[in-house]
Amino acid sequence: QAVGEDAVPEPRELRAPDGAPPPRLTVIVPTRDEAENVPVLLGRLAPLLTPLRAELLFVDDSDDGTDQAIAAACAGAPVPVRLLHRPPEARAGGLGGAVLLGARHARGEWVLVMDADLQHPPESAATLAAVAMRHDVDVVIGTRYAGRGSTAGLDGPLREATSSAATRLVKAMFPRRLATVSDPMSGLFAFRRAAVRLDRMNPLGFKVLLELLVRHPGARVAEVAYEMAPRHEGRSKASLREGVTFLRHLSRLRGRRLVGQIRRRPRTPADRVRQLVRMVCFGLVGLSGMVVNTAALWFFYEPARLHHLLGAALATQLSTSWNFLLVDNLIYRRTRVGSLPARAVRFFLLNNVLLLLRLPVLQALVFAGVGVLVANAATLAALFLVRFLVNDQVIYAA
Ligand code: GDD
Ligand code: MN
Repeated sequence: QAVGEDAVPEPRELRAPDGAPPPRLTVIVPTRDEAENVPVLLGRLAPLLTPLRAELLFVDDSDDGTDQAIAAACAGAPVPVRLLHRPPEARAGGLGGAVLLGARHARGEWVLVMDADLQHPPESAATLAAVAMRHDVDVVIGTRYAGRGSTAGLDGPLREATSSAATRLVKAMFPRRLATVSDPMSGLFAFRRAAVRLDRMNPLGFKVLLELLVRHPGARVAEVAYEMAPRHEGRSKASLREGVTFLRHLSRLRGRRLVGQIRRRPRTPADRVRQLVRMVCFGLVGLSGMVVNTAALWFFYEPARLHHLLGAALATQLSTSWNFLLVDNLIYRRTRVGSLPARAVRFFLLNNVLLLLRLPVLQALVFAGVGVLVANAATLAALFLVRFLVNDQVIYAA
């Protein structure tokens, strides 16, 4: 990737109208084979940009002469226009890489990103930028899924269904970050340059905005509704392959944390000793929990006369509560992160998943003639290491 980026030329100044003030806004338009669309886009967009003190920056990955079409069409444009053409060997990151590269060269305090195929009506894009620059926010999203927004311009019901399903999936995957965002994968959005750390971003494919939002949890976000129009000419570059790239992008965004945590194993000898101490403490707590568990199971099984599997399930809830109190307050008191309910949910989830594994084994042991209490204790002890590692490396990973 780095090699490819080194090979990228600097943006070429195509048009610098006399007396144009330094831009406040950089409009980035990524293009890939849009030769027929750019003259229409420039004709409608450029006049709207003058009052916004904007410059236009095309980042082009085309082989159909889009770059020449841009150069020809911007001849009389009232705003500054630059063009960055990436040769075939330097097209790292596809659409996302192009937008990021454009952002690195932006001169405005604000950046607006929009498509070249007129699916983002220039009037809506200009309004969005104007609204963004008037407010004390960091990111403004053009949404099709709120207010008067609409996806009418998406080609066909299949694409509409995919878009809304993907949006729901992504919102479920990042519930907190995207709680107030209705269109996290919009291609029309603006951001304040100073609020975004471009070095943190590593977009893959089409979903640049999603990458930006997930990597900047503190950014202040607002939305402006717009109606997506049909593509003017040519074809969408979305493809099955882009779909697969999208899934890879998602797993990278989501998987990063879990994998990062597990990899962050103790490195120094002192860390190893500390982990060993935690394991011993965890073992002692576990032993006390086993006493609670066994006593509870005895109660449910003998005087209360419940079935032993039901008894084991109930006993596990009691001993899990006991263990959680001790583990959370004694062993990980100083390193625990997240809210108490969040930690409790994960703790109980783990123990109940393990319970599901234990029950069949318990049943088999009882069937083989082992006493209920002993068989239950044996299944608890067998999972000690799993329980410790998941707690230490995931639930309470500092
Ligand atoms: N530089 C560059 N490199 N530009 C690209 C590339 C690329 O590899 N791929 C596509 N583009 C440009 C197109 O030329 C167009 O200007 C814009 O990016 C959007 O591409 P389309 O092919 O028209 O995408 P779409 O309409 O299917 O998807 C749009 O809507 C989605 C939401 O429904 C995009 O805005 C997506 O980002 C958005 O998620
Ligand atoms: Mn499009």
